[in-house]
Amino acid sequence: MAADKINIAIAGIGGFGRVHVRWVQSLCERGLASCVAFCETNPDRSRDLAGRLMAAGAAHYDDYSRMLRERTNIDLVVISTPIHLHKPMCIEALRSGCHVLLEKPPAVTVQDIAEMLAAQRSTGLTVQVNFQNTSGQAFRLMLQKLREQAIGKVRSVTGIGKWKRLQAYYERTPWAGRLTHDGRLVLDGTLSNPFSHLLNNCLIAAFAGEEETSLPTRVQAELYHAYDIEGDDTSCVRIDTPHGVSIRFYSTLCHGESTEPVIRVEAERGEMVWGYRNRLTITEADGRQTDYTFGEEQGVEAMYLNCFAAIRERRTELFSPLSSTYRFVASLNAALESSGPPRAIPFEYIRRQREQQSELRTIDNISAAIDEAALSGKLFSELPAPWAAPSRPFDLHGYERFQPAWLAGSGGIGNNAGAMR
Ligand SMILES: NC(=O)c1ccc[n+]([C@@H]2O[C@H](COP(=O)([O-])OP(=O)(O)OC[C@H]3O[C@@H](n4cnc5c(N)ncnc54)[C@H](O)[C@@H]3O)[C@@H](O)[C@H]2O)c1
Repeated sequence: MAADKINIAIAGIGGFGRVHVRWVQSLCERGLASCVAFCETNPDRSRDLAGRLMAAGAAHYDDYSRMLRERTNIDLVVISTPIHLHKPMCIEALRSGCHVLLEKPPAVTVQDIAEMLAAQRSTGLTVQVNFQNTSGQAFRLMLQKLREQAIGKVRSVTGIGKWKRLQAYYERTPWAGRLTHDGRLVLDGTLSNPFSHLLNNCLIAAFAGEEETSLPTRVQAELYHAYDIEGDDTSCVRIDTPHGVSIRFYSTLCHGESTEPVIRVEAERGEMVWGYRNRLTITEADGRQTDYTFGEEQGVEAMYLNCFAAIRERRTELFSPLSSTYRFVASLNAALESSGPPRAIPFEYIRRQREQQSELRTIDNISAAIDEAALSGKLFSELPAPWAAPSRPFDLHGYERFQPAWLAGSGGIGNNAGAMR
């Protein structure tokens, strides 16, 4: 590492990679980093960005392994490629001696993240997962209050996410909304992708103060889709923890408008509500209420700066170390084990309308169904919502491998180590 600058290479500059390019360039302009290379297999899609990076001295590669072999001065590899490439790319970067800033979800399966963790531990290098919502001041304050048991022992943590996504969202890239792509598992859906931040924060809040190795004991989930996809666009999940906190999670992308995702924590002596707008409200049992608002923060930038600090100074605590995301991947896999393949919601409950040269699908009364379920801790089938079907709880004791029988034959289970196509 140069004395004061972190040498960065980016893998995947299209899609969300644009955001990484923007922040890397900003960090370079401030003299904190230098972008030495980038790997992109489809540079034509992002010709403007590729041109800017090359003009600033970064070398373009279309072969990731070659980039790592030839550019021996890379300190940090930023991986913003499709989900099924995260594992092989992360492990290869670590074996080449590079720290990693890895896009979420970190891995497709528990067996994949276990391999990645083994590589991270054996090299001792830093892997930060870009769950940028872990960095906000309001969320960090909530974690501190939870660790201090400021409102007593926690009973439940409830996450609610209602967003609007058009059909175009699923057409942006070939693996979007797919369980498998190119013969390999992707498991892309609402839980694993857009609302992964919310689910991950629910897990962190529910396990605040517990050992990192402590895992959920049981997951029961119902996964649905209104769009023509394989994954889920509407889901509910109930997660039990060994220390008695119940996590309830409700999310949909089939809502008429996007609202602020929130997490509600209920405890012995009050309640906390955290929201994506970087705010926290604590209400104590006697009705006293304290509001904390911190204004807009740049979450992705904060993840970089935190990662740089950890690379320079090992004692710095990462906002989202790879090890802390094992629970998230295990819960995600267990949700699919519990629900089985996401179910299509019958057309009679779906409204379809043209919007921005695409199609919007909304589910009748989905907002009320989520609110009612969140209040009572029920799953959709327990309300009962007319389109919902019950699932079975899935036990996570000794859970080491995602391999549900219903996916057999669709190809590629546990086979995400293949070529980086
Ligand atoms: N942190 C966030 O808020 C956030 C938001 C959106 C997406 N993401 C994550 O970012 C990642 C990418 O998602 P996306 O929607 O941008 O996907 P995408 O498919 O649109 O973009 C991926 C990019 O990687 C490139 N690529 C594919 N294979 C490659 C290879 N072998 N080597 C180099 N480049 C390769 C593609 O050409 C493309 O430019 C996913 O993990 C996604 O979950 C994170």
